[in-house]
Amino acid sequence: MSNIIEIKSLSKHYYAKEKIKVLNKINFKFKKGKIYSLVGPSGSGKSTLLNLLSLIDRPTSGNIKIDKDNINFDNVSKIDQVRANKIGIIYQDKNLLSDFTALENVYIARLSVDHDKIKAINDSKKIIKKVGLINRINHYPSELSGGEAQRIAISRSLINSPEIILADEPTGNLDHKNAKEIFRILFKLKSKERIIIFATHNRYFANMADCKIQIIDGKMKIINARIRK
Ligand SMILES: Nc1ncnc2c1ncn2[C@@H]1O[C@H](COP(=O)(O)OP(=O)(O)O)[C@@H](O)[C@H]1O
Ligand SMILES: [Mg+2]
Repeated sequence: MSNIIEIKSLSKHYYAKEKIKVLNKINFKFKKGKIYSLVGPSGSGKSTLLNLLSLIDRPTSGNIKIDKDNINFDNVSKIDQVRANKIGIIYQDKNLLSDFTALENVYIARLSVDHDKIKAINDSKKIIKKVGLINRINHYPSELSGGEAQRIAISRSLINSPEIILADEPTGNLDHKNAKEIFRILFKLKSKERIIIFATHNRYFANMADCKIQIIDGKMKIINARIRK
């Protein structure tokens, strides 16, 4: 099976009062068609890993390959292009721009890869409809509930049909009913051309993934994986 994200000897160290090796020479191949959950206590490095995979942060050392291309962290314009075209990102909160409506938040993310505004708007409406919020498209983020805002955030992450979806505790601020709905939508996005990776503290949702990865002592540990490496 083809891999789409391959990390090799990936390290991220922070230098605060003392050196912290958050991720220490990790190796892994994330495979298309699978959903991965990242678990581990607060501060173990889940966000650090997701920020590296989303190319927002650069590793201290090691490599990230996406679709067989080695990412060159010095080539900022290429990185922006890869991120816009291939990666959809959902955070715990503050996903949306407060001065823009739900619809604008979604379609603006398309304009960096394609200038066709009419198509961007039409495609955005289709996606928003699928998450059940077509009657909220003209609402500003402050006029959306937490669960609705996350459904718009998912819509935005999908606007460029990404092959990689990364979600960092996307339901961390939601009650169980809303969290379930978000994960229902997220799991429906599974496709054989896509990798979905999410971090969560919720054991129930973590166990729904094809592969559960614990980050511990700077390493990745596979727990009760349903797929073999
Ligand atoms: N910019 C930073 N500077 C220094 N230390 C950081 C920075 N970002 C994160 N850390 C530290 O790295 C560790 C991992 O953080 P993080 O990846 O946010 O963990 P998690 O998402 O699993 O809670 C923590 O000890 C955190 O304090
Ligand atoms: Mg985190």
